Amino acid sequence: MSTVAVIGTQWGDEGKGKIVDILSESADYIVRFQGGNNAGHTVVIDGNKYVFHLLPSGILHDDKRCVLGNGMVIDLEALINEIDFVEKIGKGVEGRIFLSERSHIIFPYHKELDAAAEKAKGISIGTTLKGIGPAYRDKAGRVGIRLADLEDVESFREKLKENVKEKQLTLKYVYGWEPSFSVDEIFSSTMRIYERIREFVSDTVLLLNREIDSGKKILFEGAQATLLDIDVGTYPFVTSSNSSALGITTGAGVSPKKVGRIIGISKAYTTRVGGGPFPTELKDQMGELLRARGHEFGATTGRPRRCGWLDLVAVKFSKEVNDLDGLILTKLDVLDAFDEIKVCVGYSYKGEFLDSFPSTFTKLQEVKPIYETLKGWKSKTTNLKNFDDLPEETKRFIEFIEDYLNIPILMISSGPQRNEIIQRESLW
Ligand code: GDP
Ligand code: IMO
Ligand code: MG
Repeated sequence: MSTVAVIGTQWGDEGKGKIVDILSESADYIVRFQGGNNAGHTVVIDGNKYVFHLLPSGILHDDKRCVLGNGMVIDLEALINEIDFVEKIGKGVEGRIFLSERSHIIFPYHKELDAAAEKAKGISIGTTLKGIGPAYRDKAGRVGIRLADLEDVESFREKLKENVKEKQLTLKYVYGWEPSFSVDEIFSSTMRIYERIREFVSDTVLLLNREIDSGKKILFEGAQATLLDIDVGTYPFVTSSNSSALGITTGAGVSPKKVGRIIGISKAYTTRVGGGPFPTELKDQMGELLRARGHEFGATTGRPRRCGWLDLVAVKFSKEVNDLDGLILTKLDVLDAFDEIKVCVGYSYKGEFLDSFPSTFTKLQEVKPIYETLKGWKSKTTNLKNFDDLPEETKRFIEFIEDYLNIPILMISSGPQRNEIIQRESLW
């Protein structure tokens, strides 16, 4: 079996786009299985930067097939913009994009509900305002509208009417928010876009199962990350899908027996966008330096990302819950300028030593990180091709992480460009 998954081990933005683009070279299919355009996955080739929100990051490889799985929530306007962009840069999409007929649609009312809820809350989650939570809420409430529903126009209009009525009342009477959408507008814009994407809609569950059985190489591209997973993440400061490896089976419609290698991806430090506990966050100049060197501003919302040292307690939790076969370390170059590098190896909680990641928000909020301090290497690590070319202190940093986590670091990314990578082992 040849399936590989790349999963974020922190709070997102670990560099999944760059790595998925590289690994796509050897894949037949690249599959997103959860989330929507809350994701922002960056690929940099020859100095040109591309950010994908819905399309899998393998889309720039001409011959690769890209699947948007049943577990996704899709904003059709955002999707068509992305398809248009890919075509504009000369990449054909015909026969290469597969949209699950079971995936759910994000409508304008989901975005307004997202905004209204964020505004109303005392402590906001700091969502991307893309309507993700409200769309998954409708899915779980069994009133969601799926791509397949657009085939039966009259029944779609009926479902839409029901939904619009309910959302208008909720917005008005629960949130005191004046809704700015109508059935007619949503109906016509949806049908207009549907005409264009209809050819891509299919039963991707059957497709993927058959292709896996026939030995095709499938790359599962996680969006968000383990600590943002609705079940195992830092709830309630999470996204609304299973963004750890736990979501692959339900979101792609494949049995757990079909998920092969699961590879985690971690920055050499930690970032988080939005609210929620972050034990190693640096609110000082050191944090500013990480943000400036790592250009840590959201690829989707442009918000400054909160920055801090690498939290190995958190990454170890991700290793355990995803049963990671290995790790990919990214943004190593960001640490090139530091005299000393700290790595969190435990927490102190009310005077007690903790070596595992707490499951509750209240406890996580109160832990204090315990650091191991390593010597910095103070030299450039970009453009090196082999592990042995790295400075001794860098090797020590990498081996320290491997020892702590007890898994190998398979690839090291030190620079945003496609070719700025040290590959120690093939992932397939
Ligand atoms: P994703 O959501 O996990 O795909 O990550 P994002 O694209 O949101 O954020 C990662 C950012 O870091 C992007 O701007 C990438 O171009 C950039 N990046 C990826 N790998 C590296 C690296 O090794 N070094 C540096 N300096 N930047 C990187
Ligand atoms: P990628 O795939 C980082 C965060 C938001 C917010 C929380 C809930 O690029 O790594 P949502 O809009 O999903 O309801 O927001 O999750 N969040 C991300 N943070 N990277 C992402 O995606 C994220 N997608 C959502 O900032 O805290
Ligand atoms: Mg991102």
